[in-house]
Amino acid sequence: KVIRIIGVPIDLGADRRGVDMGPSAIRYAGLNARLKGLGWKVEDYGNLEVPVPETRVIKDKRLKYLEEIVTINERLHLIVSEAIKEGVVPLILGGDHSLGIGTLAGLALSEKSFGLIWFDTHGDYNSLDTTESGNIHGMPLAVANGIGAPELTSIGGAKKKLREENTVIIGAREMDPQEKELLRKSKITVFTMRDIDQVGMTEVVKQGINIASQGTDGIHISFDLDVIDPEEAPGVGTPVAGGITYREAHLAMELLADSGRISSMDVVEVNPILDNHNKTAKLAVGLICSAFGEQIF
Ligand code: ARG
Ligand code: MN
Ligand code: MN
Ligand code: MN
Repeated sequence: KVIRIIGVPIDLGADRRGVDMGPSAIRYAGLNARLKGLGWKVEDYGNLEVPVPETRVIKDKRLKYLEEIVTINERLHLIVSEAIKEGVVPLILGGDHSLGIGTLAGLALSEKSFGLIWFDTHGDYNSLDTTESGNIHGMPLAVANGIGAPELTSIGGAKKKLREENTVIIGAREMDPQEKELLRKSKITVFTMRDIDQVGMTEVVKQGINIASQGTDGIHISFDLDVIDPEEAPGVGTPVAGGITYREAHLAMELLADSGRISSMDVVEVNPILDNHNKTAKLAVGLICSAFGEQIF
């Protein structure tokens, strides 16, 4: 029972807002001690070295900070794949969601296969042609599915890094128009806020676990804190009204914990600058603990 914490203080994939401070904020909220309290052995790998945007120039406005993001994800994917090989659970703290490229590439190197549950307001399924911002944090799911700049899709080899039929998005409520069309062409299952309102989080997560489990050895959770309503998670990179509640988020993590299938997790887009006394990082720690076995009673 070992969790390896890997911090990736990156905000090169987003507009500069403060998500580079996410890993500190989450550790500051007491992550390591609480995981230890749950009986996990915690290995903190520290943070990957990430350049400061002010020291770099944007070369291509459709793919901002491409080279830097490639370098970081090349390193991250090796660290993640090593963790899986050693049988420990990698827990990646962001940072913006562009780190999902490295995490998924690392998981794909393993002989084991993984389903994916992506909690997010956004689809993160933009290609070079559909992106309106040029921010790479809006692209990781597409990249993992082989769509996007070759510099990104080739990290960890040419093959696709996810199994579409085992991939689920939960909590979607904002997508770019062309991104939506691109995503519709895939076999990825999308549960929007409407689905959650209509059938409830329990049903959505049960179906999600089922889809992510068919023929796989484990489930990777990629948790973008912006899926939660900004009332409860104000400290995120790109807040959007109408998100899931504190309680729905915990319920989702508890159901996933009960499934016994979680094999790795990313927790991304925590932004202490927009936050209120580190509220969002504290919530993130609570959710991580629910995912890794904490129970109320
Ligand atoms: N769709 C928008 C974009 O491509 C927002 C992406 C937000 N992604 C995130 N990981 N928070 O710029
Ligand atoms: Mn953005
Ligand atoms: Mn995201
Ligand atoms: Mn998002």
